Amino acid sequence: MKKIFQIILILLIVYVCIYPKWFMKKIFQLDNIKLTKISETFDKKNQSFAFLIESDQIPMGISGIKASDCGKCHQKIYNEWKQTTHAQALEDIQFQAEISKADNPKWLCLNCHIPLKNQRKNIVIGLKNKNILNPLFKKNLNFDKELQQEAITCAVCHLVKTKNNKAAILGPRGSKLAPHPVVKDKVRLRGVCMRCHQPEGKSLTPNLLCWFHPKDEMILNKEKKQDCVSCHMPLVDRKISILSLEKKLSHSHHWVGSAIPKNFLGYNTLKNRGFKPSVSGSLRLKENIILLKIKNKNSGHHLPSGDPERYVALILSIKNKEGIITKYVSRIGQTWQWNPAKKIGDNRMIPFEERNFYINISQSDSFYSYEIWNVRLNAQNATYMKESKNLDESLIKGINHQVALLDSLYPLATLLYKEDNLNEKKKVYQISELIQISKQESKIDIKDRSYANLETFKKLIEIKND
Ligand code: HEC
Ligand code: HEC
Ligand code: HEC
Ligand code: HEC
Ligand code: HEC
Repeated sequence: MKKIFQIILILLIVYVCIYPKWFMKKIFQLDNIKLTKISETFDKKNQSFAFLIESDQIPMGISGIKASDCGKCHQKIYNEWKQTTHAQALEDIQFQAEISKADNPKWLCLNCHIPLKNQRKNIVIGLKNKNILNPLFKKNLNFDKELQQEAITCAVCHLVKTKNNKAAILGPRGSKLAPHPVVKDKVRLRGVCMRCHQPEGKSLTPNLLCWFHPKDEMILNKEKKQDCVSCHMPLVDRKISILSLEKKLSHSHHWVGSAIPKNFLGYNTLKNRGFKPSVSGSLRLKENIILLKIKNKNSGHHLPSGDPERYVALILSIKNKEGIITKYVSRIGQTWQWNPAKKIGDNRMIPFEERNFYINISQSDSFYSYEIWNVRLNAQNATYMKESKNLDESLIKGINHQVALLDSLYPLATLLYKEDNLNEKKKVYQISELIQISKQESKIDIKDRSYANLETFKKLIEIKND
């Protein structure tokens, strides 16, 4: 019996050796799978986000390419960067919840949130049949876990190759004082944002995750000479490194943006990071009419820009003589239908635009408060996200625990403007008060936050000027 088995086995091996192709086809059904290069699906020049940034070589004169390595000399810049959304682009709870969904091309999501080669444990070497949901991986022997956790770290924007293929630092001035080689190219450096913030081509998934074009929205901007860096990295006078001899005009590495931090503790540093509300508001009472204004004061692109779920919420609260409060609201943003994504509305504000709203009140009503919130997610989507189960913990340890505690950990909105007349006295809130109120939201259940539940309130009436 044993012998017969041995003979069959030997015959089988001989057969496989003679007809390996036939065997592979039959057993693995490889005949209808074609392995394609990433460059057959994505254009290397215009869709650079699909390709990793080479990071095996360390520039001469420094010990490593981690932010903590750069921070030994560039301490101030390092401390700024550490508090940013860029530094937290991997640990973001929403990001972690979304990349776990099977219909997302996880490797591509990671390409913009951790784009250096050595931030990746496994590297995509090709796609099966050009399908982005079906990549083939190779183990990365130079994987660096610490570098991975730094997400959009210094090297993402500053690490380049010289003409002789040597690692160097991309810089604006070409300082001779730097211990590391510098490739001087200010235009290229200021353009690094586009790789991720203005991707070309068609959206990656039918649900259009992460597909936005703030640069196109800037065409409407009156001050055409501005680029992303002009507003998001304002000039500061300081020593660029601890080895620098004198102060120079350099760039803040804070990227404040929407000022909705990735955790409630982020509010503690928001003011020092240079938060300025992007809008101004005002309220006027004229007999029995309340007039409200909102102006997109600082944003160079649409307000809001970026993620399609973001919106700005105007909330007016009126108190009647029985003390009952009625809320009137307006939502400024995009409206989408999902599966597949289809835009069905967009009332966002262009740069410097002003809008007016009104409502009629009765004699005995009193105006109570006018608030403008910048919102990242509504209650429905946040609750959906909170219910995520069994998230992969290989990137962020403890992420399942964090998702469950969403209400107290993850801010959904920041207050941009508030005025009230609680005791018949008008009060306009200062920046530090706006921040304090935003921080207090951690104590309120998501389902009870008014800016996240606008559908449940009455509508403000917009005054169309034409
Ligand atoms: C998202 C991209 C990005 C990241 C991340 C980034 N930088 Fe920069 N960095 C820039 C840009 C853009 C400039 C300014 C170019 C100019 O002069 O117009 C700059 C300028 C600099 C300068 C020159 C001085 C100055 O401020 O103008 C130094 C030094 C520097 N960065 C170091 C760092 C270090 C260290 C880190 C990490 C802790 C870092 N950068 C992270 C984009 C980035
Ligand atoms: C051992 C100290 C040291 C380390 C480590 C270091 N740098 Fe520098 N770097 C300098 C000095 C000094 C300068 C010149 C400063 C000046 O001109 O005032 C400089 C200049 C720069 C510039 C501006 C170049 C230009 O065009 O003038 C950039 C950008 C920069 N460094 C980025 C980095 C990044 C990113 C890292 C980490 C990968 C890093 N540096 C690590 C000391 C260091
Ligand atoms: C490697 C991709 C990448 C590059 C390059 C990049 N960003 Fe970002 N940026 C991101 C991601 C991802 C986020 C969002 C992270 C999150 O929300 O978790 C982000 C967030 C931001 C924000 C929002 C911050 C907030 O909290 O609202 C601003 C502003 C910003 N980036 C500006 C810039 C500018 C300016 C540049 C160029 C100097 C740049 N970015 C380069 C990927 C990138
Ligand atoms: C005229 C100044 C200005 C310019 C130019 C500008 N921004 Fe902004 N940006 C703002 C302000 C103010 C906000 C805060 C408004 C908000 O919360 O949406 C903002 C918000 C953002 C945000 C976070 C909020 C969101 O809506 O997603 C990102 C990301 C961002 N900008 C990226 C960019 C990029 C990329 C460019 C260049 C293509 C750019 N910005 C050019 C002023 C500017
Ligand atoms: C082309 C680069 C790019 C790709 C690919 C990409 N992202 Fe992003 N992602 C960004 C940028 C830039 C931001 C910041 C946008 C903003 O705040 O306006 C961001 C922000 C986010 C946020 C935070 C949104 C918010 O409102 O704060 C989540 C969640 C996210 N991405 C998930 C994903 C997922 C899931 C994928 C894969 C399907 C993905 N991303 C692929 C560039 C990218």
